[in-house]
This record gives sequence, C-alpha cells and structure tokens, in this order.
Amino acid sequence: MLDLHGRTIRYLRLSVTDLCNYRCTYCMTEDGVPKRAHSDILSIEELAEIGAAAVRCGVNKIRLTGGEPLVRHGVLTLCERLSALHGLDELALTTNGALLGTMARDLRSAGVRRLNISLDTLRPARFRAITRRGELADVLGGIDAAKAAGFTDIKLNTVLLGGINDDEIQDFAALTRDEDVCVRFIELMPMGVCAAFPKERFLSADAVLHALPALESVGGEGVAELYRLPGHRGTVGLIRPLSHGFCAQCDRLRVTADGKLKPCLHSGEEISLRGLHGPALDAALRSGAAAKPACHHLTQGGTETLRGMFQIGG
Ligand code: 5AD
Ligand code: SF4
Repeated sequence: MLDLHGRTIRYLRLSVTDLCNYRCTYCMTEDGVPKRAHSDILSIEELAEIGAAAVRCGVNKIRLTGGEPLVRHGVLTLCERLSALHGLDELALTTNGALLGTMARDLRSAGVRRLNISLDTLRPARFRAITRRGELADVLGGIDAAKAAGFTDIKLNTVLLGGINDDEIQDFAALTRDEDVCVRFIELMPMGVCAAFPKERFLSADAVLHALPALESVGGEGVAELYRLPGHRGTVGLIRPLSHGFCAQCDRLRVTADGKLKPCLHSGEEISLRGLHGPALDAALRSGAAAKPACHHLTQGGTETLRGMFQIGG
C-alpha cells in the first residue's frame, strides 16, 4: 500500500479494546473509560478479518494495542488467527505488563513475537500514584515471565513526565547494563486528559541526553533514535513526536477498537470499517493509506483528534 507522500504502509496498529486495568493519570480520569455497549467494539471475528485484509494489502507487521490488550476476552484466539496469516512477518503487542505473569507463555504459543511493555517508574509508591491502581511487582514479575517464555528484545516504554519521573532516567538506563533490553523514553503528547497538564510535565527527550552524557548514538529503529552507554548490553531509545518530527518515515495505519481506521494518530479523519468485507474492506484500507497526511500539526495548534490515547492505542 502506498500513500500520496511516497511512504509504503506496512504496519498496522490494531486496538482490541479501549478498556484498561490501570488508570494512568496522563491517559485516563479516575473513572476510567466511558462505558460502551459491547456491540460498539469490534468482535474477535471482525478484528481477525481486518488483520487479514491489511495483510492482503501489503501489511507485514501487526501490533495489538489497547487500552490494555490483555484485558480483552479472546485476545489469544485473535493472536492465533493473526499469526497464522501468510505474509505477516511479525505479530507484536504493547501492554502495561500487569497480566503478563499469567499470559506470557500463552501469548508466545499464540504466535506473538515481540512485546513492548509500558513502565513509567521503578518505584512502587510512585507506580501506584501514576497508574492509580497498579502494583509495580506485577509488572516486574510480568517482564520476568515474558523472558522466561522466550521473548527477547523486550522494549520498555517510559513516558517522560517532568517533575514526576525525570529523576529516574539513570535508574532506567541502568537496566540496560546486563540485559539486552531497550528502554525507550517517550515525550508526553498533549492529548486527552494530559492536554490540560502544566507545561513543566512536557519534557523534551533532550533531558535524557543531559542526564546521560555518556550515551553514544547507535542509529535508529522505526520512530526511535537509539543510543548505548559504553559497555552496556541494551540500548536507550528516544521517541520524540514533538521535538523531532518523524512523520516522513511513518509507515503505519491505526484501527481503533470501535472499528475506525485512522490515517494518522493526530488527525481527526476516521474511516469506518464496520460492515465491510472482502474487496470493500481492502479498498477502505487503501483509501486510509492514501489519506495519510504528510505530517501532524502538534507543534502548530495541537492534535486534531478528540480521542485520548486509550481510544487510539498508543
Ligand atoms: N503521550 C505519550 N505516550 C502516551 N502513552 C499514553 N498516553 C500518552 C501520551 N499522551 C503511552 C503509554 C504506553 C503507550 C501505549 O503509549 O504509556 O507506553
Ligand atoms: Fe492503561 Fe496504558 Fe492508559 Fe495507563 S497509559 S491507563 S496502562 S492504556
């Protein structure tokens, strides 16, 4: 699938639920996600059908997201169906890690090959404060379970929260010393509830370079700039949607849990996929690729989407 700006679209991010077992302060309110009718959300059958259509159109990588994908009933069945698709090179999943302790092995058997695990702090009390209900030990146990299940190249995603977790940059980087893990620091994007956060919460990823002057650049991978501390096994990544635009390399489409194709994370444009099958579904996906804007406008006027991150899938 080609878009109008010379980008080949190969990567689908498929949100399987907007629900989450956490309530991270920058993502949701205390009350969580507005309740929706079960029928508003794509069925496992529909999700599998969209995945298959995307692969027919040239997508070779699918990432399941949420909300929290592991709270979705039937997610393992979906993984089995997607990983069996001929032409799919990689099935990946982004999770908060809370349920990996019990699910990592089954995910591996169902064909998931890569995991990104969100982890914004290494301090138990702070973890409770940020997630409002999570226990750090569950996630650390989940990461161990994932390693034991055979997952390698695990990526940890850490959203930089100025005044909240920026004193832990060195602690996170220390995780890369003996382990082949990539710790990726993500600039907080002003969407949903955090759009109203005070300015000091929004840090440039340069804060990481200042905190870790020994970092050596080792290239890039997708949207992340990669660095390494001398002698460390793992890497440190920077994801800077705000300070360094990476739209020119964007090769992704997103589908929300309620069946809307989003050509860009930040655009208001949505194409409904529900009720479409076969060639009509393929055509809708191709039109979504064609509708990808050249670039987001986050630094000029902000996001155009009314959705929070949990409604889009990270
Ligand atoms: N800005 C940047 N990252 C965010 N995430 C959720 N909301 C935001 C935001 N406003 C992150 C989560 C998770 C991933 C799916 O997206 O912490 O790592
Ligand atoms: Fe859940 Fe992720 Fe939002 Fe936290 S950031 S509430 S883990 S969807």
